[in-house]
Amino acid sequence: MSSIPRHQLPLVSASGAPGGMPSHEDMILDVASCKPIDAYFALVDVVNPRPIGWITTVNDAGRVNLAPYSFFNAVSGRPPMVAFSAAFKRDGSKKDSHRNAEMMGEFVCNAATSTLIEKVNLSSKELPYGESEVDLTGLSLLPSLKVKPPRIAESPVHLECKVWKILPLGDKPSAHLVIGEVVVFHISASVLDHKRRVDPHKLQTVGRHGGDWYSHATHLFELKRPE
Ligand SMILES: Cc1cc2nc3c(=O)[nH]c(=O)nc-3n(C[C@H](O)[C@H](O)[C@H](O)COP(=O)(O)O)c2cc1C
Repeated sequence: MSSIPRHQLPLVSASGAPGGMPSHEDMILDVASCKPIDAYFALVDVVNPRPIGWITTVNDAGRVNLAPYSFFNAVSGRPPMVAFSAAFKRDGSKKDSHRNAEMMGEFVCNAATSTLIEKVNLSSKELPYGESEVDLTGLSLLPSLKVKPPRIAESPVHLECKVWKILPLGDKPSAHLVIGEVVVFHISASVLDHKRRVDPHKLQTVGRHGGDWYSHATHLFELKRPE
């Protein structure tokens, strides 16, 4: 049996070579020695398209907060669970979504769809704590059934979530994973097919890539699972 020698290729950091790396060379990043920002760029450039969780929370004064998170995914089917990862703000404090989810134990995840993507992006603006991105974007709110954070009326899908756990990530955490159990699904009839399953042609969620790149789910295809 052949074995692949460890460190077969040189381990270099993206910014390690004088004048930067020539574009025709493979990039190999040793996370132990590269700059954290280079590892971050590599991560978001290759792990994609990422779904976007568009998160509504409230604080103890009832102020509504809205922000997009693309370190987001479904993480369990039974019970249904989703999670988003919130880094710290530039000043080292918790982001408002994280702070509110921790304080109130609830959040709502709204679907980030093609027609809403400009507002999704606008809602990422860092406003002072307690100021609402909902006012900034001009979106409207609907009450939720089992949690206090409201739903974004313009979005066709809302997941009402109870916080299950918040995990610090890493030894010196720069982010926290907020895991929520979905207690109510709201799915608009406008995105359902005749079998009452979501038609992806109708839902049109947007994917997040590296840099300023996004993608539309316009080239859909079906593939059967192996028997
Ligand atoms: C599409 C998109 C995805 C984002 N994903 C994340 C993410 O996964 N984690 C994070 O900490 N910030 C992410 N951000 C930045 C936050 O949305 C931004 O810091 C925002 O101000 C946080 O708001 P909050 O403090 O009200 O929670 C993202 C921004 C955009 C536009």
